[in-house]
Amino acid sequence: FKILGLSDMMPYRSKRSLLVPPMFVPENQRAPFPRLIGKVISSNMKEDHIFRLTGRGADQDPKGVFSINRLTGDVAVSRALDREAIAYYHLQVSTTDLSGKLVEGPADLDVSVIDQNDNRPVFKEPRYSGEVQEGSPTGTTVMTMTAYDADDPNTDNAVLRYIIVRQLPDKPSPNMFYIDPERGDIVTVISPHQLDRETLPTTQYELEIVAKDMAGSEVGLTGTATATITITDRNDHAPEFTHSLFQASVNEGSTGVVVNLTVDDRDDPATGAWRAIYSIINGDPNQNFEIQTNLDNNEGMLSVVKPLDYESAMFHTLLIKVENEDPLVPDVVYGSSSTATVYITVMDVNEGPVFFPDPLVVIRRENIPVGSFVAMLNATDPDYLQTQSIRFSVLRDPADWLIVNPFKGNVTTRAILDRESPHVHNNQYTALFMATDNGSPPASGTGTLIITIEDENDNAPYIFPSVARVCEDSKDMNVVIGGRDKDIHPNTDPFKIELGKQPGLEKTWKISRINDTHSQIMLLHSLKKANYNLPLVLTDSGVPPISNNTELKVQVCTCKKNRMDCSHAGSIQTNILLLLGLKKEKSELCRVY
Ligand SMILES: *[C@@H]1O[C@H](CO)[C@@H](O)[C@H](O)[C@H]1NC(C)=O
Ligand SMILES: *[C@@H]1O[C@H](CO)[C@@H](O)[C@H](O)[C@H]1NC(C)=O
Repeated sequence: FKILGLSDMMPYRSKRSLLVPPMFVPENQRAPFPRLIGKVISSNMKEDHIFRLTGRGADQDPKGVFSINRLTGDVAVSRALDREAIAYYHLQVSTTDLSGKLVEGPADLDVSVIDQNDNRPVFKEPRYSGEVQEGSPTGTTVMTMTAYDADDPNTDNAVLRYIIVRQLPDKPSPNMFYIDPERGDIVTVISPHQLDRETLPTTQYELEIVAKDMAGSEVGLTGTATATITITDRNDHAPEFTHSLFQASVNEGSTGVVVNLTVDDRDDPATGAWRAIYSIINGDPNQNFEIQTNLDNNEGMLSVVKPLDYESAMFHTLLIKVENEDPLVPDVVYGSSSTATVYITVMDVNEGPVFFPDPLVVIRRENIPVGSFVAMLNATDPDYLQTQSIRFSVLRDPADWLIVNPFKGNVTTRAILDRESPHVHNNQYTALFMATDNGSPPASGTGTLIITIEDENDNAPYIFPSVARVCEDSKDMNVVIGGRDKDIHPNTDPFKIELGKQPGLEKTWKISRINDTHSQIMLLHSLKKANYNLPLVLTDSGVPPISNNTELKVQVCTCKKNRMDCSHAGSIQTNILLLLGLKKEKSELCRVY
C-alpha cells in the first residue's frame, strides 16, 4: 500500500497512522450489496474519532458507490460496477473528531475494477469488401479485418483471434483464403493457376469472419462480419475472331458498313482487357476501308470510306488484326485466331454515260442554212464491262435551234442561228444534252454544248434619236444624230449618214460628219413651225454594207427665252412642202414626242 505525500503538506501534521490498502472490485458483481471490499486502519483511533470517505464515487458523482463504516473503517461497494464505464476510482479517506475537525489524512484510497469478459468483439461494419486480381501468387493479401473489444486490453478478455468460418461458394475448394488469426489479414491460399476469373464459378466470394476474444479460447466471445472478395480481371485472354474468313459485298460507288466482324474475348467486358481494336494489315493500299469498334458488342464494323469502282477491281481481300486496348499479360500472346481474312465482292452499278469534252465548244456563223452540222457529241459509259448503248437527246435548247441524232450524237440546226437573239450572251449560245444508257435501270449523264456564233451583217443601222426639235430661226439649228447597229464590228460603224434621194433636199438641209457614229444636221433656210420628216440614208461598214432609207422627224418650234413651244406647229403651204421636198406631219406629233 501507499500513503500519498499529500497529507504531509496539510497544515495539521499527522502521523502516518492511516493504513489504506488498494482495493479491487470485480465488475458485474451480483447482489447482495453492500459488499465489503476492504478495511482502513488507523493506529491512533480514539473513541471520538470517525472515518470519512470523500471523492468521486463517495460524496461526488457517481455518489454512494462506495461507503466507509465510520467506526470500523470497513469499505463497502453498494452496487455492481462496469469496468468499461469507470475502471478506477480515486477516493480519499480521513478521520475527524466529532466536531468534524480533521485528525488524520486525507489519504488516497484507490479502487480498481477488475475486468470480466463481458464485451464481445465488434467489427465496425457488417460487411467488408476487397479485391484480388486473378492469377495473383499464393499468399497475396486481399484485405485486413479488424474487430474491437471493449474489455481490458491487458487481459485475454480483449485478445482477439480471427477465423474464417464459411466461404461461399466453396468451389473449387472451401479453403481458397486464409486469415491471419492475430492480424486479421486475409490472404490467398489458392494457387495462381486456379485463381482464374474465367474458370472460377464466380468472381465474388463471401467469407464469414469470426473474431473471438479470450485469445480464441473455447469460452471466448465472438463477433461476426462478412468479407466479400472480388476476383478482378487481367488481360490473360486475347480476342479471337469467331471465323477465320468473313465475306461481304458492296455496291460500287457507295460507302458505309459492309460487314460486322465478330470476336470472342473471355476477359471482363467492362475492361480494356476485353475491348477490341481492329486494324487492316493488308489489302487496302488506297485506304478505301476502315474498321471501328462497336462499343456495345465489341464487333468490328468494317466500312467503305472511299467508294470502290467495279471496273477497277471486282474483289478485295483484306487481312484484319484484332487486339485489346490493354496489353496482354506477359505469358499470353496474340495467336492466329486474332487475325482474319475478309473477302469483299464489289457489285456493278449502272453508271450514267459521261460526256467528253464537257463542255464542248464550237464556232458557227449565224444564218447558216437549216440542217447544217453544228457538233458531234461524245459520251462514254463507265460500265465498260457491259455492252451498253447510248441514246442522245436535247435537254435544254432555249431558242429551239438544234436537233441531235439519238444514235450518232451529231447536232444539226433546225432553225436559223441568230447572233442577235436574246438567248445569245457574249456571242455564245448554250445548250444541254443528255446521254442515256440502256442499263436497268437506265442511267444518264448530261453534257453542255457551247456555240460561239460569228456575226454576219444582217442588221441595218438605224438613227438615234429619231426625233429632233429645232427653232424657227435657222441660225439656232443644231441637231446631232447618231447611228446604231445590232451587228458587231466590222458590220457596224463607221456609218455614212446622207440626205435621202429627193431632189432639192440639199438646198434646205446640210449634213456634216462629226465622227464614225454621229453627224450634225443643219437647216439652211428657216422653216415654218410644223413637223417634218427628213429622208435620210444610213449605211454601215459591213461587207457588203447595208443601208437604211429612213426618216428623221423634225419638229420646228417657236423658241423664246430658252423655252421651246412646239404646240402650234400649224399648217404649212403644200407648195412650200413640195419646194422643200418635205412631207408634213400632223401637228399632234409635237405633243406625242
Ligand atoms: C453491323 O452492326 C450494326 C450495329 O449492330 C448494325 O446496325 C448494322 O446493320 C450491321 N451491319 C451489317 C452489315 O451487318
Ligand atoms: C431603219 O431605221 C429605222 C429607225 O431609224 C428603224 O426603225 C428601222 O427598223 C430600220 N430599218 C431596218 C430594215 O432595220
